[in-house]
Amino acid sequence: MSIIYTPEKKLFTLHTAGSTWQMKVGRYGHLLHTYYGKRVEDMDLSCLIREMNRGFCGVPYEAGEERGYSLDTLPQEYPTFGVGDYRTACLHAIHEDGSQAAELRYVSHRIYDGRYQLPGLPSVRASGTEAQTLEILLRDKSSELEVVLYYGVLEQADVITRACRIQNRGKTPVRLLRALSCCVDLPDGNMDLISFHGRHAMERNVQRTRIPHGRLSVGSTRGTSSHQSNPFVILCDPDAGEEWGNCYGMTFVYSGNFLAEAETDQTDQTRIVMGIHPDGFCWTLEEGEAFVTPEVILTFRPDGLGPLSRTLHDLYREHLIPRRFLEKRRPILLNNWEVTEFDFTEEKLLSLAESASGLGIELFVMDDGWFGERNHDRSGLGDWTVNHAKLPSGLHGFSEKLRNIGMKFGIWIEPEMVNEDSALFRAHPDWCLQIPGRSPNLERCQLVLDLSRQDVREHLFARISEVLDESQASYVKWDMNRNLSDVWSAALPASRQGEVSHRYVLGLYELMERLTGTYPDILWEGCSGGGGRFDAGIFCYMPQIWCSDNTDAVERIRIQYGTSFGYPICAVGAHVSADVNQQTGRRVPLETRAEVAMAGTFGYEMDVQKLDASEQEQVRRQIQNYIRFEHIIRLGDYYRLTSPDTDETLAAWQFVAKDLTESLVSIVALHPKANPPFRRIRLRGLKEYAVYRIDGEDQIWKGSALMYAGLPVPLLWGDYQSCHFYIRRL
Ligand code: GLA
Repeated sequence: MSIIYTPEKKLFTLHTAGSTWQMKVGRYGHLLHTYYGKRVEDMDLSCLIREMNRGFCGVPYEAGEERGYSLDTLPQEYPTFGVGDYRTACLHAIHEDGSQAAELRYVSHRIYDGRYQLPGLPSVRASGTEAQTLEILLRDKSSELEVVLYYGVLEQADVITRACRIQNRGKTPVRLLRALSCCVDLPDGNMDLISFHGRHAMERNVQRTRIPHGRLSVGSTRGTSSHQSNPFVILCDPDAGEEWGNCYGMTFVYSGNFLAEAETDQTDQTRIVMGIHPDGFCWTLEEGEAFVTPEVILTFRPDGLGPLSRTLHDLYREHLIPRRFLEKRRPILLNNWEVTEFDFTEEKLLSLAESASGLGIELFVMDDGWFGERNHDRSGLGDWTVNHAKLPSGLHGFSEKLRNIGMKFGIWIEPEMVNEDSALFRAHPDWCLQIPGRSPNLERCQLVLDLSRQDVREHLFARISEVLDESQASYVKWDMNRNLSDVWSAALPASRQGEVSHRYVLGLYELMERLTGTYPDILWEGCSGGGGRFDAGIFCYMPQIWCSDNTDAVERIRIQYGTSFGYPICAVGAHVSADVNQQTGRRVPLETRAEVAMAGTFGYEMDVQKLDASEQEQVRRQIQNYIRFEHIIRLGDYYRLTSPDTDETLAAWQFVAKDLTESLVSIVALHPKANPPFRRIRLRGLKEYAVYRIDGEDQIWKGSALMYAGLPVPLLWGDYQSCHFYIRRL
């Protein structure tokens, strides 16, 4: 049993393989949090909750003279605004009389096998034997507002998921100004928050901050999860590192506005809440209506950031990314974007594809520019009909020609957008998000289609289906190249405009569900100007996301390093691009560009026709190598061996097969030094007493020697040289 209820104590205990979460109904009915951390058996940990009159900390009316029973200091499961807890809250409700309060008390609960359902929202998948659910019903003391807290326990996967459903059972409307998904109250202060900030072409840089007194928040109000922030954070001990320390991961399964807000309170306890960002959010619940929050995945590891990441990588593979994609190798692709941008013809693409095919590349992806009047980024978006001037054979004819040379066909789409200069916009100007009487903010000369509207979604489904049927595409890159602004829908009344951003995301999920469900054999890759929508929500539909528009291998080391904390390597879109790199002007050897792209889905985005004979040979070898190793990369465990923040000379990472019989170690020299010190890299994850051999070497190694003494790093001459070691158990 992973969920235990002890009725005499009104105590709920949730166990995963390595963690315990516990809560208790307090003596006045509030749901108090007692513990989250390393697994503890058979213990009522409510003794950890201590009460003391702190002064200027009010108490619920019934508590009267019990001045230590203050919601302002007690650890809680779902804190609310307006009733004496002044810390960051999950729920802020306004009733019809204008009052802003909700004091939630326990009513009942239910425990069952399997998972709770979140209609319209992506979430972790698990069967009745893999998961149990606890639902706790809370009701506001003075109104008919109810909240059902959902706890999903995946014992073996070692995670707990949370979400909630807020329902107005009264007769008058309630407005929600804040409806977050979860809160974690921990008794200790002095904790760090690790978050992932960035910008276009430099996503997911690691930032580690001590949680201050006062609030520390990261989030997005851009309508997408964004390049600038990421809906995944880690709370950890101040001395936690790759292999030690208590670490709590929080993943938001959502692709729109989000908030992760942490604070150290007046008595040095830590609170963190996560959910939809309240800025711009206002949701009206009429009589009987309910609002369901997206899910948060909680992961705890007592032994560091590395194990935390690996737990999450396994979770994505087993319970988030559609399983059908993990069972087989993904094709090695060539994408034409960095080769041609908008300037291509059928002839040019076919000759590029032919050369690529000769090198062993299996899938040709035609990127932006194939439709409407799309000869630059100022026009054509929305018009999903082939541009015959560029592709005289049409989608069907062109893809047929590719198949005839042994190549699969992949296609780029950006369904959510429209250029003003397009037939779609001229026909339906009210189909995009913009405010009457204001000229909208433009990004890349495009506007965002109002996906909260059913008619818009129907149109997109029909058009995109036609494209897929006609082209018989076996891969689709789904792009999204701007943020939301001027968020206003012509289809909703004034009182509902605060719902548009979330309704947009719900519409997006409906469309993704429908298209990926109708075309299950297509390999879908998410994209948003690279990694601007790199989140668990998208991964529930698509097995990979283009990690960044930055294809500079050296910059990619940092981006992929940051990404690996919360996301599995098999989902990271990574390509070998041209020399000189288009984003930075840097020159990196072809071997190293491939080494870095191998820590991902592996493909090429360069003019392979310009390669000389020896480079072509290198590419053939890279492809053979990737095919040889990819099962370890797709299915194995990933170890960060260095950090770009602390090691300026070397970057190294390692994959280990689950049965510990094989491992792949990649090393890139960043800045060579004259007369350099010798370096060793201590490997991880091998079997101590097993005997291993490094491919191409005679020396026999004990696993313990490779892990504790370390592997000597060869002296690499020149900037950005690289090497890898394939290690096999004898
Ligand atoms: C985005 C993507 C690129 C490319 C362009 C096309 O920026 O991230 O890979 O597809 O759009 O316009």
